[in-house]
Amino acid sequence: MKEELEKIREECQASLALAKTEPEISEIRVRVLGRKGSLTQLLKRLGTLPEAERKEIGRRANEIKEDLEARVEEGLRRIQEQERTESLERERIDVTLPGRRMVLGRRHPLTQTLDEIIHIFSRLGFEVVEGPEVELDYYNFEALNIPKGHPAREMQATFFISEDVVLRTHTSPVQVRTMEKKRPPVRVICPGAVYRCDSDPTHSPMFHQVEGLLVDRGITFSDLKGVLSVFVQQMFGRGTQLRFRPSFFPFTEPSAEIDIECFICGGKGCGVCSNTGWLEILGSGMVDPAVYRFVGYDPEEVTGFAFGMGIERIAMLKYGINDIRLFFTNDLRFLKQF
Ligand code: DAH
Repeated sequence: MKEELEKIREECQASLALAKTEPEISEIRVRVLGRKGSLTQLLKRLGTLPEAERKEIGRRANEIKEDLEARVEEGLRRIQEQERTESLERERIDVTLPGRRMVLGRRHPLTQTLDEIIHIFSRLGFEVVEGPEVELDYYNFEALNIPKGHPAREMQATFFISEDVVLRTHTSPVQVRTMEKKRPPVRVICPGAVYRCDSDPTHSPMFHQVEGLLVDRGITFSDLKGVLSVFVQQMFGRGTQLRFRPSFFPFTEPSAEIDIECFICGGKGCGVCSNTGWLEILGSGMVDPAVYRFVGYDPEEVTGFAFGMGIERIAMLKYGINDIRLFFTNDLRFLKQF
């Protein structure tokens, strides 16, 4: 039994010396000192020995037990200490490292242009409203005085969803939807995406427009002229020359397109303005009485004006961009310039 005792001690000391983790030490503790551990079992068998041997071996066994318990405790302490040192080392912060630079994005040039337009009109009392991009033929054409078969439909190459449903070709249908819901006075601008089956350096199948509508008692063409002159001066700079050119739209009568003086050549004529000296920026006119009848307004009682402009076109003119596709390809070299 004496030899057995020494063997347990040796084996246990050797394993403890090799143990590197808490579970390993716990395993040794259970195996030797636990209730069914080898040393505990041996102690239980002491009673079977003759008195003299029992005393001697018993003393030795208790010595060993205390020694092994102390070694287990010591081993656990050592491992905890080591783990703490390692984690401190791992989590060390180098306070001399430079900070991470925050990369700031910026708003898309079309968003910037639209925000400017909205800002100008909101100071003139216009409120922003929106309408659906998938639109009924009724709102996109019919109620704007463009019946089926009307030649004006040809001007807007339309994406049809079904016979009665289209991708809106302009933001003008929001005029009709607004008037259906609201009694005059109405003073709104309607920004949004529009779609036409068209693609080249100045046309994109999806682009954006802002529509404007003002209806009240006693509104005249001079109100149209005043509001849009203020807009042009604020958008393109004080002193920008503009002219009203007679035009035709089925939903306005009379109608006018507004040109601004070409700021590339100063009006002398160049490639950008096709040698006319002028750049067309928007369509406008007095709302046609036929449109009021669709929404239940009385044309004897109220009058108003409407206008519509392409946001891409305004941005291209303002920033001298020559290809509309640049807005949609998300090339950072382009976007970073705004
Ligand atoms: N909807 C027209 C277009 O897309 C633009 C336009 C012209 C809108 C005259 C109007 C307007 O409200 O009065 O070509």
